[in-house]
Amino acid sequence: MKILIVGGGGREHAIAWKLMQSPRVSKVYCAPGNGGTAQIAQNVPIDPFDFAALAQFVKDEGIELTVIGPEDPLLRGIVDFFNERNLPVYGPSSMAAKIEGSKSFAKKLMKRYGIPTAAYETFLDYESAIACVREKGAPIVVKADGLAAGKGVVVAETLEEAEEALRQIMQENVFGQAGARVVIEECMRGEELSLLSFVDGETVKPMITSQDHKRVYDDDRGPNTGGMGTYAPVPHMSDELVADIVRTIVQPMASGMAQDGIPFKGILYTGLMITTEGPKVVEFNARFGDPETQVILPLLETDLLDIFLATVNGELDAIDVTWKQESAVCVIMAAPGYPGDYPKGQPIAGLDKVAAPVTVFHAGTKETDSGVVTNGGRVLGVTGTGKNLHHAREAAYAAVRTIAFDGAHYRTDIGAKAMNAQNGK
Ligand code: AMP
Ligand code: GLY
Repeated sequence: MKILIVGGGGREHAIAWKLMQSPRVSKVYCAPGNGGTAQIAQNVPIDPFDFAALAQFVKDEGIELTVIGPEDPLLRGIVDFFNERNLPVYGPSSMAAKIEGSKSFAKKLMKRYGIPTAAYETFLDYESAIACVREKGAPIVVKADGLAAGKGVVVAETLEEAEEALRQIMQENVFGQAGARVVIEECMRGEELSLLSFVDGETVKPMITSQDHKRVYDDDRGPNTGGMGTYAPVPHMSDELVADIVRTIVQPMASGMAQDGIPFKGILYTGLMITTEGPKVVEFNARFGDPETQVILPLLETDLLDIFLATVNGELDAIDVTWKQESAVCVIMAAPGYPGDYPKGQPIAGLDKVAAPVTVFHAGTKETDSGVVTNGGRVLGVTGTGKNLHHAREAAYAAVRTIAFDGAHYRTDIGAKAMNAQNGK
């Protein structure tokens, strides 16, 4: 079977890598792909927003399934476009993807289905928003409603910070249209956790837990990024807690959306805060996480193609999703300057020295005649696996130290806190 993956980051490289292990997959194409997917699949230079060109390519090549990686094409309706043409596609419709595209929409559904989340109010005008934060006081959370590449959220510890955030979002329009509406939320305290689930509209199959490290520097210092590293599973989060999250959050969300005529088919990413009152939702995403995928898929035993096809056919309940009893750690190697401006086109050395149990998932890279060069902010995700977090970390960091490009930087503490918790058990 031939598959097309839409997207070109580390997440898409990991999806391609996992699908290539399926005995039924004969060929994978990536549009547009990157320097890593070029080595295991065929890159095709089609823009992820050019739905007509993608659909034409699928017809011409006899591709039997298209998998959508990133959120933007989902929100713009790529799944609806493919469905209207009877082309099998994996991912949610644009209406269902709105749970990621509009925070106020997600909040409305959560309220309707009784799903625990932070108390909130939405505002369209600056004066009322300011009045709200002044009345509630700090700490308080200010969010641009729309997509803002993970940067539209300010957890304000002081009233001044909250007011400054509102000024930037609503008056200076730093996030453009995404900030036309703001959500002001109660600040939740607790440990953060990501639980991704395969959902076919009704059936929910949770994956293993994972944690991202969003700040650019060690000890969670510096500005937010798309994610500097992940590990899975989270050792101190019990199976009972996961069952509780599915029962009180993920299943009610899936069932509620199905009943409301916007069934969610694809990957439902639940970002959670484990508070003293129990797990509460921070956000929903409508796709695989990046770099969560780079630690989750290496631990998945089940054939990913079987899961995707069962989802498309509404038969996910028949699939037994199983996981290796191991741990994985992914360390992101970033370009100098990231998350600010960074150079591109720098040669990357040492990739050929990497061997099992390490896999390098390319994010911002490009294949050239003279080898693989950098082509983005997050350049590589180096994933190590092992029998526990300690071994997985050792493997990942040993490989990171053999890979080099000018000005590469990475965090040295991915999974460190969790490993200490594991050792303390
Ligand atoms: P989001 O883009 O909604 O995932 O928010 C980004 C980050 O902001 C989250 O990962 C949390 O660390 C933090 N955050 C968001 N909402 C809240 C909240 N209500 N209380 C505390 N922290 C939050
Ligand atoms: N790593 C966070 C995300 O993919 O949303």
